[in-house]
Amino acid sequence: MDKNRETIFGTEPTRDTEGLTPRESRFGDLERIETILNTADIATVISIDDYILDAIGTHSNEVDIAFLQEKGKPLDVHAFSSNTAPLSLLKTKEGYLRAIFKPESGESARRKAEFNITRFYPRERDAYRLDKALGLDVVPPTVIRKVRLKDNQDAVLGSLQLFIPREYALPFNKISREDREKYTRTIDWQKIAVLDYLINNADRKDANMLAVTGSTPGVIAIDHGCSFCHISNRDIMGPRLDLRLQKTPLDQEVLGLLRNAQNNMHRILPRMSQDILARQSIPGESIIEKIEHILTSGMIV
Ligand SMILES: Nc1ncnc2c1ncn2[C@@H]1O[C@H](COP(=O)(O)OP(=O)(O)OP(=O)(O)O)[C@@H](O)[C@H]1O
Ligand SMILES: [Mg+2]
Repeated sequence: MDKNRETIFGTEPTRDTEGLTPRESRFGDLERIETILNTADIATVISIDDYILDAIGTHSNEVDIAFLQEKGKPLDVHAFSSNTAPLSLLKTKEGYLRAIFKPESGESARRKAEFNITRFYPRERDAYRLDKALGLDVVPPTVIRKVRLKDNQDAVLGSLQLFIPREYALPFNKISREDREKYTRTIDWQKIAVLDYLINNADRKDANMLAVTGSTPGVIAIDHGCSFCHISNRDIMGPRLDLRLQKTPLDQEVLGLLRNAQNNMHRILPRMSQDILARQSIPGESIIEKIEHILTSGMIV
């Protein structure tokens, strides 16, 4: 057996929020969405570049969009929506749930060598699991799944993440300078800064955030392949860099989430991939230690 192979946990839906304050996710009913991502039939898979013709920008890995249905029938959106999630976020009018598939076979060898990372896709899922466990609610539901890309080929492993349509949120690099300001004052900006510190995200450029354009501005975090890795000061970008430079005190809501989660980390961490778990014993790298650090200083490090 390949001893470097990361342990990938099964496809069962997680219950990481047990014991934490129940709350509505902006993405809908997380457990149900995870179940659909894990089990629904995949009707079609196409490259994201063929689906979104503008505003996609360059991406170093293969990024596909999958259309999910239940046995050829439209999905019953009411079964997995919530009061806070708009229906258009969850399915197309034909009844497909759309999800971003990033196959292991399409991961950039150059990027992996650059960050000394073996596999990106477990990090996508683990960033979501941590986000969910903390209650940050900035990472769209993400699972690990095998998907058949072509009829005559075997299914390949990768991460499958709820697709956020452009009508709901735009890539942050498309936001005007004036609007940008308003997003940097949101609580999501602080939550992403916290997440990036906890997961050592080395790739929080503008294209890896989505700006929610409705009446309440918000920011969504995507692309967590280059996380749980060695990070230098040069890699600190986006909200974390911004709040660190400004020495902004974190909002009580954010500190409250971290305080709540502190006692549950021993339950959450064993659900992560093995190489992420291994990092927890490196001094200064453990998520528990980092949460304590933020709670002591009240600021982003
Ligand atoms: N869940 C999502 N919802 C909506 N759009 C998405 C989602 N995930 C990815 N995208 C779009 O696809 C683009 C490429 O995806 P992603 O950033 O994950 O790829 P990547 O190859 O890892 O990028 P990079 O070059 O930053 O390493 C994103 O910039 C975004 O525009
Ligand atoms: Mg990206």
